[in-house]
Amino acid sequence: MATHYKALGFVNTREMFKKAGGGGYAIPAYNFNNLEQIQAVINGCGESRSPVILQVSSGARKYADQTMLRYMAEGAVQMAKNKGYDIPIALHLDHGDTFELCVSCIESGFSSVMIDGSHHPYEENVALTRKVVEYAHEFDVTVEGELGVLAGIEDDVVAAKSIYTQPDEVEDFVTRTGVDSLAISIGTSHGAFKFKPEQCTKNEDGVLVPPPLRFDILEEIEKRIPGFPIVLHGASSVLPQYVELINNNGGELQAAVGIPAEQLRKAAKSAVCKINIDSDGRLVVTGMIRKVFNEKPAEFDPRKYLGPARDELQKVIIDKNTHVLGSAGKA
Ligand code: G3H
Ligand code: 13P
Ligand code: ZN
Repeated sequence: MATHYKALGFVNTREMFKKAGGGGYAIPAYNFNNLEQIQAVINGCGESRSPVILQVSSGARKYADQTMLRYMAEGAVQMAKNKGYDIPIALHLDHGDTFELCVSCIESGFSSVMIDGSHHPYEENVALTRKVVEYAHEFDVTVEGELGVLAGIEDDVVAAKSIYTQPDEVEDFVTRTGVDSLAISIGTSHGAFKFKPEQCTKNEDGVLVPPPLRFDILEEIEKRIPGFPIVLHGASSVLPQYVELINNNGGELQAAVGIPAEQLRKAAKSAVCKINIDSDGRLVVTGMIRKVFNEKPAEFDPRKYLGPARDELQKVIIDKNTHVLGSAGKA
């Protein structure tokens, strides 16, 4: 039986984005796959009084079981209430790739979905996105679409250039599809290896500094669709201290590079209303677990290594909301 998101205590993203757009900050969208991640997200956003988007990928639904994951999200709303956190919480499908997946999420109580048709030819992307919007809006569920393809590490610089969002397409796309927000490609990419070392320079500490995001493209997009909520995927900073923590405790992550915090701060002050973060959480959790395993090889109680990982992730989330996205105190 279908459940409407309002009955579960979620909100859609419309009001969140309206406030963020006018307020010069971005709403954090944190992915979760398990208990410790969702606890860290709710506690981190609750403590920093930030609105939050709980983000679920189809991979997460497969990993944790879609029913389990949905009930965890419902439980998170209750936990927030019990703790006195008065923050808006949206439950969002990340990178939905079919109409049927979006319907399934909406029926189970998601308040927002992404239909990612960015890999399809333009007209197919428009048609698929329009179909999802028509269905979702019947239930007041908000929809994120995407134009432009995020670079992968396998793309060379020339290929990466050709997949930036084309400003000339955005007005037509948002008008014809009716989407509520638009994910764009301006130089970010998913994962912990966003740039090749040869694309970067080194700072005085030997840390790789990537080329800047294409704010010129963002400005052109803003001119075409003024005030429209823009979404940035692939926005983890790949925090060097956690890459180092992993490597100092037996890991092997070489040349991991993310998006510098200052660039995200600049984006958050512009039309970017939603910033997606998954990889940073993975790095924090992995680093902390490796540290406990390394320092206490006899430890075998999962709470003793998952607990510190969760607590550290909560701290990182508070820091991001406060110093990078600017969403702290905006709930
Ligand atoms: O954009 C991708 C997200 O980081 C989700 O990753 O598909 O491995 O769950 P996943
Ligand atoms: P990161 O891999 O940079 O964390 O991006 C996550 C994301 O875009 C989820 O949709
Ligand atoms: Zn993404």
